[in-house]
Amino acid sequence: MEVFSFEKKIKHYSSYQKILLAGEGDFSFSVCLARAFGLAVNMVATSLDSRESLMLNYSKAMSNVKELEARGCKVLHEVDVHSMSQHPFLIRVCFDRIIYNFPHAGFFSSERNRLQIWFHRDLVRGFLKNACEMLTAIGEIHVTHKTTFPFSEWKIVELAKEVGLYLVDEEQFSLLDYPGYENKRGAGMCDKTFHVGMCSTFKFAKLLYSSTTSWSGCSGINGPHMQRDEYLGRVGASKIMYVRFLIDHDHMIKVATELIGSC
Ligand SMILES: C[S@@+](CC[C@H](N)C(=O)[O-])C[C@H]1O[C@@H](n2cnc3c(N)ncnc32)[C@H](O)[C@@H]1O
Repeated sequence: MEVFSFEKKIKHYSSYQKILLAGEGDFSFSVCLARAFGLAVNMVATSLDSRESLMLNYSKAMSNVKELEARGCKVLHEVDVHSMSQHPFLIRVCFDRIIYNFPHAGFFSSERNRLQIWFHRDLVRGFLKNACEMLTAIGEIHVTHKTTFPFSEWKIVELAKEVGLYLVDEEQFSLLDYPGYENKRGAGMCDKTFHVGMCSTFKFAKLLYSSTTSWSGCSGINGPHMQRDEYLGRVGASKIMYVRFLIDHDHMIKVATELIGSC
């Protein structure tokens, strides 16, 4: 039996969105969203850590995981952001929001060290590339990240461009918006929080432009394989509308626009 429920929202997120959380620490961010929604059947929350390692390293992880599962959230462990789209549970599943808060590749050297920055950038690039494959046509990937030096050196907007994403919006992040969320350090000092300082939520979306684009493999906005090039753009200032332009290249004219969503 399908249970109808009214939309519940917290900050950028809605109970009507299918949400994937990647690189969770003690799952407190997922719990925060789940509590706001009541039921969390629309969410999949993942960690790189195994369940055993969570148990050892985070004081509240297991109670958080239990609460998530009780609310209907699917919780997966040992999910690497470089390959999450190939996880047996995630293959061919698409999401409206894919979130990774404070990605961090672990501590090898000082945060200013070029090699250390290279590792972080490799992690974020891998995440964005993989998340792109799992995103609905009008979905967004959200990365919350410090904006001060040396974190600014990760240049995550450039990384996003490399994998075919564009920056929709950058919004200042505040912990106060997410009651109960404890941002964790991970890697060695797992259960400790850190001072977030100046940081933003970077929202990325797919620039859909490909004559070979096929959405037939994804749930979400499905459709037959398009023969014409597609371009997904956004129009409107205060109210953003998503439109799909179909470009007929023989005539180089816009032959159709279709409203496929709005927010
Ligand atoms: C600074 S912690 C942030 C944890 C959590 N997102 C939060 O905000 O509390 C960085 C997280 O990235 C995760 N991580 C590092 N490399 C990863 C990878 N390749 N795949 C998935 N998660 C990864 C770590 O396990 C750690 O939980």
